Amino acid sequence: MIRARITGTGSYVPQKILTNFDLEKTLDTNDEWIKARTGISERHIAADDENTSDLATRAAERALEMAGVKAEDLDLIVVGTITGDYPWPATACIVQSNLGAVNAGAFDVSAACSGFLYALSTAVDRIEAGRSKKVLVIGAEILSRVVDWEDRNTCILFGDAAGAVVVEAQESEHGILSTHLHADGTHLKLLYQPGFGTKLVPNEESLKNKEYTLKMEGNEVFKVAVRSMADVAEIALKANDMSVEDVDLFIPHQANIRILKATAKRIGFKEDQVYVNVDRFGNTSGATIPLAMDEANRAGKLKEGDIVLLDAFGGGFTWASVLMRW
Ligand code: COA
Repeated sequence: MIRARITGTGSYVPQKILTNFDLEKTLDTNDEWIKARTGISERHIAADDENTSDLATRAAERALEMAGVKAEDLDLIVVGTITGDYPWPATACIVQSNLGAVNAGAFDVSAACSGFLYALSTAVDRIEAGRSKKVLVIGAEILSRVVDWEDRNTCILFGDAAGAVVVEAQESEHGILSTHLHADGTHLKLLYQPGFGTKLVPNEESLKNKEYTLKMEGNEVFKVAVRSMADVAEIALKANDMSVEDVDLFIPHQANIRILKATAKRIGFKEDQVYVNVDRFGNTSGATIPLAMDEANRAGKLKEGDIVLLDAFGGGFTWASVLMRW
């Protein structure tokens, strides 16, 4: 059977680190509160001259190098992002040009923090249908440009990063075993960026109200996130006739430590099955999962044959899971 298998991972985070202590200087907040409520100690912030495509390109170069795949051999590039360089064209097209991936189609997927898993599932479908052979899938975000740095309820949570994987068609028992995608658009205003699309245009009032920044009802999002991530993980296990004990590594979207712990507990995972790096990067939306995968991979925590479960939740709402044999 032709399977989509990840053959290389890469990631990139901007150099600048913003700690909770740095935030204390500009906001009515403190390290203790942020750590207790979110588990986050620091996050990386893009330099003024860095764009999402730059982060994405650097992560992609590392993933291609590990996979031993040349950019011109790629037939598709999919970027999961909600903070692309431009409203359009797609950031994937800029990455395509940066890499010189002259034989690749390129497009972005907008599914907020689930964007990478939505993008990965697209790659899996193309590969299993025999329409693609080598696909680059990226999650890349510069959330720091769309948060309100005066809103302590939200700005403390987010950071900038990119992660990438090369997915190849292989006749193998290894690779991606299932993908599950879900959405519920009825709650969109619990987590969204009002401006600027076609619904709300930039004008004196919308600019004054900072409508171009992320808005969130944290408490409400928290409850739905835990329930949805637990549900979609259980759906993946059931679809593959597996139980929690079969999973070697659970890599959930790194939104905050309380969501991670509550989700893992609800599913029944032990602490040592769950990958956590939210303390060092915060919530980097579509980038959290490929960043975590790359860290785990380079640290030797992903071994051939391991069962790995990826699980995400984000604005939309969207949620998704991907289960694979490494
Ligand atoms: N520092 C200090 N105090 C803060 C603060 C900060 N950065 N942010 C909020 N507070 C205050 C609030 O104003 C509130 O004060 P009040 O009681 O005087 O009104 C108090 O802390 C408690 O606020 P509350 O919103 O109830 O806190 P919480 O325990 O729900 O934690 C979040 C807030 C945002 C950390 C939490 O709701 C959360 O993690 N939600 C999910 C967010 C998320 O991950 N979204 C992305 C999903 S993809």
